[in-house]
Amino acid sequence: MIRFCQITGKMPPLMWLCRTMLNYTDPILETNVMGINFANPFGLSAGLDKNCDMAAVLDHAGFGFETVGSTTSRPCAGNPRPWFHRLPEYDSMMVHVGLANDGSDVVIERAEDAWRRTQSMQLSVSIARTNDDQVGDLNEGIEDYCISMERAAGRTAMVEVNVSCPNTTVGEPFTESAENLDKLFAALDRIERPQPTLVKMPLNKPWPQFKEFLDVLAAHNVQGVTIANLQKDRTGLDDIPKDWLGGLSGGPCTVASTELIRRTYAEYGDRFAIAGVGGVFTPEQAYEKIRAGSSLIMFISSLMYRGPQQITVLKRGLAKLLRRDGFGSVAEAVGVDA
Ligand SMILES: Cc1cc2nc3c(=O)[nH]c(=O)nc-3n(C[C@H](O)[C@H](O)[C@H](O)COP(=O)(O)O)c2cc1C
Repeated sequence: MIRFCQITGKMPPLMWLCRTMLNYTDPILETNVMGINFANPFGLSAGLDKNCDMAAVLDHAGFGFETVGSTTSRPCAGNPRPWFHRLPEYDSMMVHVGLANDGSDVVIERAEDAWRRTQSMQLSVSIARTNDDQVGDLNEGIEDYCISMERAAGRTAMVEVNVSCPNTTVGEPFTESAENLDKLFAALDRIERPQPTLVKMPLNKPWPQFKEFLDVLAAHNVQGVTIANLQKDRTGLDDIPKDWLGGLSGGPCTVASTELIRRTYAEYGDRFAIAGVGGVFTPEQAYEKIRAGSSLIMFISSLMYRGPQQITVLKRGLAKLLRRDGFGSVAEAVGVDA
């Protein structure tokens, strides 16, 4: 799929066909979040287009935005294979890539170039800590994020800081304690950047700890939170072989992520824009996340299992649901159930 996008994205007649066939536009879907105008609230979540090869196709297919990456300060080979196991019976994939990417130097340059060329799509870049044998202590990790943030400053519509990748050899030191998270964002605050910053949150922290992290982030230059990363809890999924490593996407994330979105919105209101992600397969599931407090919606698994028409299915369906309930825009529905 990525190779297909890489090649066809450079063929204008095919892109015209893609836009004509797939791109559904509707003023009710237009929205402004964190000062950025989006043609619709739907975006590709971080992790599929790691090296920024898909932007042209996603733009012409009618995505409101995409998140390129996660990308890291050094090019990164990722974990030993296998990286994926398909679990279609759960609408899920087990993911154990470990942040393989070409490095933020190259990826952010591509992202900036792609963003200049898009007709209607906004572009975000997700930055993460390199997962290789050169990793050092906490300060080395902070330095790694800072290098990528400096590279990203002013070159994309948004930046997402991924502190919750479940698949790295160093683990997740920045979501182990509020102090570590605070140190990271104190360092990132010193980097001038015009674009808003989102933070990719973990899915499996107990609420008091999750809230502690949000309190830390509220004191820093952070405008949004992306809720959430992959599901680590395999309860009820006993037939998955124990030796398969990784986090679960898709179906096993749907309920837990919506619940975290609801609690975050109820507690913090407009302090953070929320980008909701996790198991969005139907317009109803997207609408539920919006009513729980999400201003933006992202997905990967439903694109992989349902195919390229998924973006159109979600947009058409959401527009219908908003109209059914008397809303004039996406923003009007944000958080009404929280
Ligand atoms: C193939 C794949 C790779 C992923 N890689 C990343 C990544 O590099 N950075 C990140 O923040 N999240 C990554 N994720 C997590 C997704 O961004 C998302 O949070 C999760 O898959 C839930 O969304 P979904 O149910 O729509 O797939 C990845 C997910 C998948 C399926």
